[in-house]
Amino acid sequence: MSPSATTTATPATNGNGTIKAKNGVNGSANGTHANGNGVARNGKNGKEAHLSSTELIRLENEHGAHNYHPLPVVFDRALGAKVWDPEGREYIDMLSAYSAVNQGHCHPRIVAALVAQAQKLTLSSRAFHNSVFGRFAERVGGVFGWEMVLPMNTGAEAVESALKLARKWAYLRKGVPEGEAIVLSVADNFHGRTLGVIRCVFLSSSDPSARVGFGPYLPGVGPTFVDPEAEGGSRVIRFGEISDLQRALELHGPRVAAFLVEPVQGEAGIIVPPPTYLPAVAALCKKHNVLLICGEIQTGLGRTGKMLAIDHAGIRPDIVFLGKALSGGVYPVSAVLADKDVMLCIQPGEHGSTHGGNPLACAVAITALDVLVEEDLSAHAARLGEVFRSSVLALKSPYIKTVHGLGLLNAVVIDQDTCTAARAARGQDVAGNKRRTAWQFCLLLKARGVLAKTTHGNVVRFAPPLVIEEADLVKAVKIIGECLVDLERLDEIPGDDSEEGGH
Ligand SMILES: Cc1ncc(COP(=O)(O)O)c(C=O)c1O
Repeated sequence: MSPSATTTATPATNGNGTIKAKNGVNGSANGTHANGNGVARNGKNGKEAHLSSTELIRLENEHGAHNYHPLPVVFDRALGAKVWDPEGREYIDMLSAYSAVNQGHCHPRIVAALVAQAQKLTLSSRAFHNSVFGRFAERVGGVFGWEMVLPMNTGAEAVESALKLARKWAYLRKGVPEGEAIVLSVADNFHGRTLGVIRCVFLSSSDPSARVGFGPYLPGVGPTFVDPEAEGGSRVIRFGEISDLQRALELHGPRVAAFLVEPVQGEAGIIVPPPTYLPAVAALCKKHNVLLICGEIQTGLGRTGKMLAIDHAGIRPDIVFLGKALSGGVYPVSAVLADKDVMLCIQPGEHGSTHGGNPLACAVAITALDVLVEEDLSAHAARLGEVFRSSVLALKSPYIKTVHGLGLLNAVVIDQDTCTAARAARGQDVAGNKRRTAWQFCLLLKARGVLAKTTHGNVVRFAPPLVIEEADLVKAVKIIGECLVDLERLDEIPGDDSEEGGH
């Protein structure tokens, strides 16, 4: 019986409080089961009934963990840079699932690769070889220029893998005493959500939610280091401040395995470092025999106008990891890239993943890379990024503080205070949720058919699929202008629940 087929109208609980139908499929109390297209099937006669956006959001809120605060819009169908909700309303996607759908939603070639491979072989595990992984590994090497690839699934797993690899290298090759290796990172980096990874993220951010309440954290990893001359005895490595890393390496170099950095900080607000920063970082790492690890999960694969964001700086790190758009958003695929002298520090049995390197993932990723290269999406991103930034600036809105970014990874920083003050000056209410926020701006965008989200606070990220047509980008900018006017003038913001959401 297919999972979307019959459920019974008489639900029973499955022991952990959720409702379970007799056939073992979790369903709702009225015996309907959503099949993922906003379509519900009635258990008794199989007749289809559409669930509205409101009903789908209610189901999600009732039965799904509340670890995100989504904008109130339901994706039902998508193609390229366009998305449609169950009611058929069309939107321009300006987030790309956090830069996972660089190639555009449901790219026909990538979907075809998925379907073809799914009908042939989906999983071998790496207990055996499969007929696609080797081709994927060779292709990744050819595109990015590292000798070997370690395949994983999610971004956070790739980061964990890189941390393990760096520690192993430090003990085997650098001679760091066992148990003493340090991996330095940068304040406000973002690398994912696992326990190991959160130690390197968001240390001094205005949004501590990624870390607070989950300690104790992994020792020997993170953006702080002991400095007897600093106030309080420790210092934080700030992004773009080369003197911080210099000091950390002067004090602790012999025990430092690696320095981990995003070439452009994404979640921190699309922060592009000064052009001299990354070359100076690479030189310092070389001097102290420290591996340089660059996280290209959000910035890589054409997003910033080059295949990798490090290409802007002309550096070659020892380890790079990729995720998200490595599959065009069709399937979770991530990868760690390194040369043999580093990668072969990990031997059979020391690291792995049941799904990592599976044939389905590999077939999808090969095609996703083909699409990026053959459609020259980096160049498209570079050109349209200029168009985006210049046309947003040309709006000359008093409620935009800055526009910055690289390629099609951009931030528009909303001047919430100026907007609120303008309302007050016109005698409008500014108490409670009448105070103006970037979150409300995103709700206004959504109401006019543009989807974007704050990274945190007043920073709104605009990162459309790289296949977006110029006319749609220009239309989105026009709507940005209209929504900035609405932000000041409107009293009620549609859908406002007054919770400012980051992720
Ligand atoms: C820069 C960066 N690194 C790592 C991750 C984690 O990837 P995943 O969510 O696939 O674990 C993200 C996710 O947003 C990211 O933006």
